[in-house]
Amino acid sequence: MIPGPTMVSPRVLRILSKPVVSHWSEEFKRGFLEALELTRMLFQTEGHPFILSGSGTLGMEAAIANVVERGDRVLCVENGFFGERWSEIVEAHGGVVEHLTFQWGEPIDPRLVEEKLSEGDYKALTVEHVDTSTGIANPLEEIGRVARGTDAVCIVDAVCGVGGMPLKMDEWGLDLCLTGSQKALGAPPGLTLLCLNEKAWGVVESRRTPVADYFADLRRWGPIMKDPSGYFATPPTGMVLGLLEALRLIAEEGLENRWRRHRAFSEAFRAGLGAIGLGSFPAEGYEAHTVSVVKVPEGVDDAELRRVMRERHGVTIAGGLGRLKGKTIRVGHMGTVTVADLTATMSSLEMALKSLGYELRLGSGVGALEERLLPYLSES
Ligand SMILES: Cc1ncc(COP(=O)(O)O)c(C=O)c1O
Repeated sequence: MIPGPTMVSPRVLRILSKPVVSHWSEEFKRGFLEALELTRMLFQTEGHPFILSGSGTLGMEAAIANVVERGDRVLCVENGFFGERWSEIVEAHGGVVEHLTFQWGEPIDPRLVEEKLSEGDYKALTVEHVDTSTGIANPLEEIGRVARGTDAVCIVDAVCGVGGMPLKMDEWGLDLCLTGSQKALGAPPGLTLLCLNEKAWGVVESRRTPVADYFADLRRWGPIMKDPSGYFATPPTGMVLGLLEALRLIAEEGLENRWRRHRAFSEAFRAGLGAIGLGSFPAEGYEAHTVSVVKVPEGVDDAELRRVMRERHGVTIAGGLGRLKGKTIRVGHMGTVTVADLTATMSSLEMALKSLGYELRLGSGVGALEERLLPYLSES
């Protein structure tokens, strides 16, 4: 129950256990093209999809390496650990960073983004869909709207959001979105998925200088993503076919149903947290549906809490990230997560807290979670 890597469906595991196939095989070529098509469905775009071997951070780096040229100005809009990562990547590629910083736990204010964009000549802006460190879901639709009227390429890290929360790339005017395979998609870590719309692709194609990254140069990969019969570098064939199965599972569930399930699960989990007196870290109304970031109550040691849950109950959750280390715990509830996972986690949290001296009535968290979840389960 950590916010990624998440558990993987037995259907995906079965594919991953098959003998290695050649990247020239018909099976792989067909599978790769289908995975790319489903990637467009995932991001809700008619744009250009890419699947590369590498983690989410490679996707972030590929975005910057391809869009930004030395000396270009980039507005890094940040309100958490991963938001802050962007500026390091931009600087590594010679871009000039302008920070627009919001407090951790507070959402990005699109009006301030609009103001900043109107003041400067920005090549791009970077923003998080969900920042996994704080559990915030930023108002992407509004941010897309203010970026749309400008020349800046709106680059979105959707690693902890897409597949679990609404993201409509074309409708919302987001120009370049990316994710990793290991979170709400329900595949193992190792792949990054990116989509670029015509605006972003046009910027990449009209660069004056070469991309300072050989492997992540999207123009080298472009022809392969259209026709995998070609060769640039060997794709991770088994991983791509495993991802394809995970994407098929998403398509079978239906993206909207999946968003609804994640929302219902996260609201139920928060109801349980509230019933045992635990507070959410992100501002009310902006909580992510994929991960809950929870304040550790006074007098409880978070490492001990997590140890008890893991060793006594077999439930693994994550600790706080960056400056929230020791202050928060993080529970991922995305991808293939089930009602049983959710209730077991709440039950384990209650028992572990109680055994560490925190006052609560056992069962109150699970009860509140069930009360909140039942209407959704009855209608779905
Ligand atoms: C929101 C977000 N962005 C980027 C990353 C980086 O992805 P990776 O660890 O796969 O490189 C993570 C990883 O947890 C993340 O949660």
